Amino acid sequence: MALFKKKQNHEISLSDIQLPEHIGIIMDGNGRWAKKRGLPRSAGHTAGAQTFRKIARYCSDIGIKYLTVYAFSTENWRRPKEEVNALMRLFKDYLQEAIRDFKDDSIVLRFIGNRNAFSPELLSLMNENEEESCEREGMVLNIAMNYGGRAELVTAIQDIAKQVENGALKPDEIDETLVSDHLYTKGQPDPDLIIRPSGENRTSNFLLWQSAYAEYVIMDVLWPDFTQQDLDRALIEYAKRNRRFGGV
Ligand code: IPE
Ligand code: IPE
Ligand code: MG
Repeated sequence: MALFKKKQNHEISLSDIQLPEHIGIIMDGNGRWAKKRGLPRSAGHTAGAQTFRKIARYCSDIGIKYLTVYAFSTENWRRPKEEVNALMRLFKDYLQEAIRDFKDDSIVLRFIGNRNAFSPELLSLMNENEEESCEREGMVLNIAMNYGGRAELVTAIQDIAKQVENGALKPDEIDETLVSDHLYTKGQPDPDLIIRPSGENRTSNFLLWQSAYAEYVIMDVLWPDFTQQDLDRALIEYAKRNRRFGGV
């Protein structure tokens, strides 16, 4: 486990600090990483996928209970077809690898987002991975694919409205718990820490409801360059924050 030099020169390790239970990561900066090297954007996504593999494993190793990674937003379909296809290929590669090589793993895989848009092949790989891993007891890894916080809320509102319409629910029975229970993350704790590499200061539609009291750590590194040490830095920064949840 990485060690850090404090100002006074003693070292602190991750075991000395309070770790978040749930981390969200907006895996951003792949395109800029590729551009800097004169490579096509797809090369940035390939490199980003490798970073994802390493960082997901590291989070599981240090005892994080929930990790949610933003892999593809509802708005990312606006990108050139070639780039979208490259991303779908990378998802397929990862999901095939997970089925083939992660048999003895402890990680529970979940997918959050609207699945209707994916090819039947990708969809069955997603289902297969969820079924294969659902009995495991390790970290829950939510992969947000065709995910948008607004779309998630619209779907939840539609479901709730249907229940009101058919008389199963009264409008004044709708409360925050009920809304949370209609989201993809039902039953999971809200994210404590959201990391956004690549320096952008925005949510880009990630976990809008769930992030009400998340601590944001924005980092200047591009996602393909993101290392375990960068994650450690974000964790140290998180541990220093004073979370008040509206109290004093
Ligand atoms: C994140 O990297 C990956 C996806 C959104 C799928 P980008 O592709 O957004 O990289 P930049 O922001 O253009 O550098
Ligand atoms: C957010 O990044 C989505 C993912 C990382 C999957 P974007 O690159 O799509 O966000 P914007 O366009 O910079 O807000
Ligand atoms: Mg981006």
